[in-house]
Amino acid sequence: MGEVSKLVCRECRKEYTPTLRHVCEECFGPLDTVYDYDKIDLTPNSFRGRVKSLWRYIELLPLNDPDRAVDLGAGFTPLQRSVGLAERLGLKNLFIKNDSVNPSFSFKDRPATVAVSKSLEFNLNAVGCPSTGNLAAATAAHAARAQLPCYIFVPSDIEPNKIVQASAYGAQVVAVKGTYDDANRMLTQAADMYKIGVVNVNIRSYYVEGSKTLGFEVAEQLGWEAPDHAIVPTASGALLCAIMKGFEEFVDIGLLDDCNTKITAAQGAGGAPIVDAIKKMEDFITPIEKPQTLAKSLAIGDPGDGIYALNMIRDSKGFAEDPTDQEIRDGIRLLAKSEGIYTEPAGGVSIAALKRLVDDGSIDRNESVVCYVTGNGLKTPEAISSQLPKPIIIEPDIQSLAPILSR
Ligand SMILES: Cc1ncc(COP(=O)(O)O)c(C=O)c1O
Ligand SMILES: [Zn+2]
Repeated sequence: MGEVSKLVCRECRKEYTPTLRHVCEECFGPLDTVYDYDKIDLTPNSFRGRVKSLWRYIELLPLNDPDRAVDLGAGFTPLQRSVGLAERLGLKNLFIKNDSVNPSFSFKDRPATVAVSKSLEFNLNAVGCPSTGNLAAATAAHAARAQLPCYIFVPSDIEPNKIVQASAYGAQVVAVKGTYDDANRMLTQAADMYKIGVVNVNIRSYYVEGSKTLGFEVAEQLGWEAPDHAIVPTASGALLCAIMKGFEEFVDIGLLDDCNTKITAAQGAGGAPIVDAIKKMEDFITPIEKPQTLAKSLAIGDPGDGIYALNMIRDSKGFAEDPTDQEIRDGIRLLAKSEGIYTEPAGGVSIAALKRLVDDGSIDRNESVVCYVTGNGLKTPEAISSQLPKPIIIEPDIQSLAPILSR
């Protein structure tokens, strides 16, 4: 069982008992989940024979009763040692963390499995989120598994095909006549009134704990070592901070000797407020009103955890890159052709950022690099379809094949 001892304000360090709260009442800072690390006694051998999902790290997850986990098998995804891409880039130790193969096909299943489980534990009536994409699908899938009602709030001008996956899982989509911010505000107000677990709002302190398992797994899969570099597709900055928390907690409990990982944020050009701040060497984030990038799942103009991600990148001596739409498309195709992994644009951003860092010498060929691929290409075929070669049309006789197959 998880040894959560308290919630701690990231700003003023005020401590709270771990109940249904997510912001500090003194300073409105976010609350982080902290465990009783001294009580956690884990060695590499402890993990032999454990479930092959993120619930294998139960001591470091915030659930009181692991038997009540709402589990579709999220996590423990492959860490693929790259051959084809590594050779093309001239790297000796490149790994792709392929999180596109989660139950609803993105890494968001990790925070969703924890947040929906926690909502059950808090006896909430329903779950939900303001989202149009991966988070909506992940929350709806886990709500279906828990047989809890699920409400997805979106702006009413949403393209219908964006909500197909969540609707298929049985979520009720509520289309608010207004902007994404209006939808967000409405759901946040409804959360208290109707006892709804809004996974990334009132359950947020627990929700992000699911994402840190992307740090745990990589460390375990590398043979209990943290990589020299981690490249992370970034929107709000929550995932990047969570991965680092994962590595650091493993150091705290002695599963890792140390962690010198340089962490890199990858965002699409035109929607890259964190990358902009790093490149301009500023200590603050300048929000972008209308982010425009092919990587729509990363297009957050005012990133909630931006400042924390910024500090983490700087402290770790990491980097920040903002590939263009064309570089993102090239990244998607390069990964697919050289590794057999088909990603949505977020993963293309990660691969394109990696390529830039190798080209400009920021990554040495002998260093170990983990490139996070966080969503599946089947969600966004339109991202590259117009640039793919067309089928060769032939007559239905065997002779017309010869010029093609002898190429
Ligand atoms: C596929 C994918 N990768 C990465 C991210 C980045 O997550 P974060 O907002 O935690 O930075 C998202 C966010 O929606 C996403 O959908
Ligand atoms: Zn505070």
